[in-house]
This record gives sequence, structure tokens and C-alpha cells, in this order.
Amino acid sequence: MANRRIAEILQSGQPDESLLVQGWVRTKRESKGFAFIEVNDGSSLANLQVVINQDLPDYEPILKKLNTGAAVEATGVLVASLGKGQQIELKAETVKVYGEADPDTYPLQKKRHSFEFLRTIGHLRSRTNSFGAVFRVRNACSTAIHQFFQQRGFLWVHTPIITASDCEGAGELFSVTSLDLKNIPRTENQAVDYSQDFFAKPTYLTVSGQLEAEVMAMAFSNVYTFGPTFRAENSNTSRHLAEFWMVEPEMAFCDLEGDMDLHEAFLNHIFKYVLETCPEDMEFFNERIDKSVLATAENIINNQFERLTYTEAIKLLEKADVKFEYPVSWGLDLQSEHERYLAEQLFKKPAIVTDYPAQIKAFYMRLNDDEKTVRAMDILAPKIGEIVGGSQREERLEVLERRVLAQGLKPEDLWWYLDLRRYGTVPHAGFGLGFERLVQFMTGMGNIRDVIPFPRTPQSAEF
Ligand code: 4AD
Ligand code: MG
Repeated sequence: MANRRIAEILQSGQPDESLLVQGWVRTKRESKGFAFIEVNDGSSLANLQVVINQDLPDYEPILKKLNTGAAVEATGVLVASLGKGQQIELKAETVKVYGEADPDTYPLQKKRHSFEFLRTIGHLRSRTNSFGAVFRVRNACSTAIHQFFQQRGFLWVHTPIITASDCEGAGELFSVTSLDLKNIPRTENQAVDYSQDFFAKPTYLTVSGQLEAEVMAMAFSNVYTFGPTFRAENSNTSRHLAEFWMVEPEMAFCDLEGDMDLHEAFLNHIFKYVLETCPEDMEFFNERIDKSVLATAENIINNQFERLTYTEAIKLLEKADVKFEYPVSWGLDLQSEHERYLAEQLFKKPAIVTDYPAQIKAFYMRLNDDEKTVRAMDILAPKIGEIVGGSQREERLEVLERRVLAQGLKPEDLWWYLDLRRYGTVPHAGFGLGFERLVQFMTGMGNIRDVIPFPRTPQSAEF
């Protein structure tokens, strides 16, 4: 007998079809001579209603086991539904209960639970409507990302998770070591003796795959990485994770204009794809989570992003008639309140801010002729703030060496990166999109902990 996913049955199932479904019970409703079970298998927001007639052998004992959360398999025939809310339902011929779920202890009963509570049961929360929708949309975003780049001939490259370099220079690194922390080997002057460590030098979890993506772009022209990155940033906010996923395209023979254009086409593609493939989930977010979700998506698809320089942004912020907590002045980094003011209040759409002061940005960004600013871009989204950071890279060896030294880095540690400027250097550019921030932006979910299955945040690595 055909074993079919519920999403597909609800979409194209025809009366009189015989089939088998497997999933978890969401609710049970008993009426005279019948029971109605709502079954969900994760393939869609909607459940399949299974109707069980009391003629079924062992009706009573089976029904007793069919509580919310129980794993069930049913065979039967599809029939047009007489009830409201669904077109089709399954008339059960056999019902098998795999694992029961004790109604006295199973924490997901039929009522609305807060996201805070659901975070405490991270191993079960994916069985709720909200998290089902989030993780289906997350999956669709990933698919759209690969599709976008693959259609354009970008090579997907896998950059290392363990690295010896701090790409962003922010010092937010998690160390990777196999040294015995209870008995750390020391050098003569009491420093940690890394020569005895696994890699014979200090190593870390990567904060970004960019430097290695640049290596690959110098051979394959257009590449992208899409993988986990790690930051030991002690930021307990609704937009920071210690482990998050980043998408990083890198393009040879490309400047910042090309980088911005690619990015707009990229976001456009992802939003279109998700609206097409997850309409039901997106409706759900629009109704239950944030009433502006669908309007935002349309806005992204139909409008160009605002583009302005950092210097212009500072002028606008200085003129703003709102009180900011943090000061605004040329040379200081933008805080999320400033970023949100620009995108949310002033432009009411994403804004691309370019040409930041060199001293607040990473060493690899291309120095402008004014020698004060670099070809950086940050993309600021309403409600989220920074969603993308990118730049044109410094391709001139002498300038890059100067910048490396100015930021207190050692050129010898970056010898291979500098070699790219020695041999066949070209203008190139790329960006990093914080994948969870994209999913937040897409779904309207307020807390970044609720768009990744297993969030890693300060003091929290459960599940
Ligand atoms: O701006 P960032 O630090 O840029 C880079 O790492 C560059 N190497 C990217 C590149 O040009 N290839 O980080 C990029 C994005 C941010 O804009 C933000 O969306 C996200 O990564 N991000 C975080 N997301 C969740 N939790 C955190 N702690 C994040 N830190 C950065
Ligand atoms: Mg950034």
C-alpha cells in the first residue's frame, strides 16, 4: 500500500484511494461511535484527519493509547470530508500505535505554549505548529540558497571549521585544544606550550569561512560557503548565537557594486522561493507571529534596497528626532538601534550602508582613496538590524600588508592569504549573510533562539 506524506495527500489525494500514513497524534476527539484523530508527520502545517469507527477491532484499547504525542500508523481509504476545515480525511481500516505518550507527563498538550517554555523542551518543540513552520521555512531558505548559486555557476566549497586565523579580528574565538586543561604544558616563560597541542599551534572554531573562500575564488572565480560559524561573543540578545550558520559568496573580478547587485538578486530569489514553496507556513507567520511578514516579503521582491554611505548615514542619524541610547558620531560603529532606525523608520525597507571608517572594520577590506574609509557594506533589515556584512577585498599587496600590521596582526601568520595578492591578484568581493537572521526576517520570529533547532548561547548548550 502506498505510504504517502500528509502534505502530498492533502494536496492531491483523491477519494477512494487506499493508503498508509504514519505520524504523531496532535489531537483526539471522540463522538458517538467514532473518533477523530489529527495526525501530523511534519510535512505540512495541516494535519490529516483519521476517522476511526467503533467497529474497528480493539477500538477501545487502541483509542485509549491514541493521546496527543503518540506515534501512529493507519491504513484506510480517503473519503471526502463532511466536517469543516478539511476536504479529505482517512477512513481507517487498521490503526497501529507505535509509541504512546502519557497525557499526564507529555508536556505538549493542546494549548498555546510560550516560546520561552518551549525552549526548555527543545527536544519536543519541533512537534508544534510554530516550530514545524519555522524549520520547514528554514529548509526552504537553504534550498533556495543552493539553487540560486548553482544556477549561476558558483562552486559550493567547504571551508574548515578548525582554523588558526581570526578572520574578523574581533577576538571572539572558541579555542580548540586537546591539551589536558588540568595539566597545561608551559614554556620557560610560563606561556601555554602550544607546540605540544594537537596542531602544534593555537587553533579555534572558525568565525567565518571567508579567507578560505577567497583562496577558492582565486581558482574557481565564483564560490560560496554555507556552514556553521562560531563566536564566543557574550551577547545575550535576540539576534546573537554562539553557533550560527553563514552563507558567504566570494567573487573574483567583482567590485562592491557587483557585490550589492548580487545580494539583492539573492534575497529576492530566496523570498520568492519560500513564498512559492511554503505558502501555508508563511500565512501562518503572518497571522500568528507578525502581521507584516507577507508585506515585507512583497516589499523585498518588488523594491530596490536603499543605498547610502556610512558618512550619509551618520548625517541622517544626527538629524533624527529620536533619542538614541548610544552616541552617533563619525568614526563610531552603528549600534542596532541606529541600524533599525534607518531601515525601519526612515527607509521602511532594507538599506545598504557602504564605506565605513577603516578603523572599525576588518583588515581585509579595500581601502578607499581617502585612506580613511573602506569598501565595506552592511545590509540593515527592518526589525533585525545588520543581516549581512560584506566588502570588496584589498587586492593590493602593499596596502594589505600595511592594514595587517595596523591591526596588530602578523603578516607571517597570513602568508598564504598574502600570497593570493602576490600571484594573480584581482579585484574581488563577497559577503556573509547570517542565516538565522535571514530566517528571523523571513518569519517574523522575534528571538534567534527560535529559528535554529538547537541554539547555543551563553550558559546554554542543552540538547
Ligand atoms: O559581519 P560579519 O562579522 O562578517 C563576516 O564574518 C565576513 N567575513 C563575511 C564575509 O564578507 N564573507 O558577519 C556576517 C553576518 C552578520 O551580518 C550577521 O548577520 C551574522 O553574520 N552574525 C551573526 N548571527 C548570529 N549570531 C551572531 N553572533 C552573529 N554574528 C554575526
Ligand atoms: Mg558585521
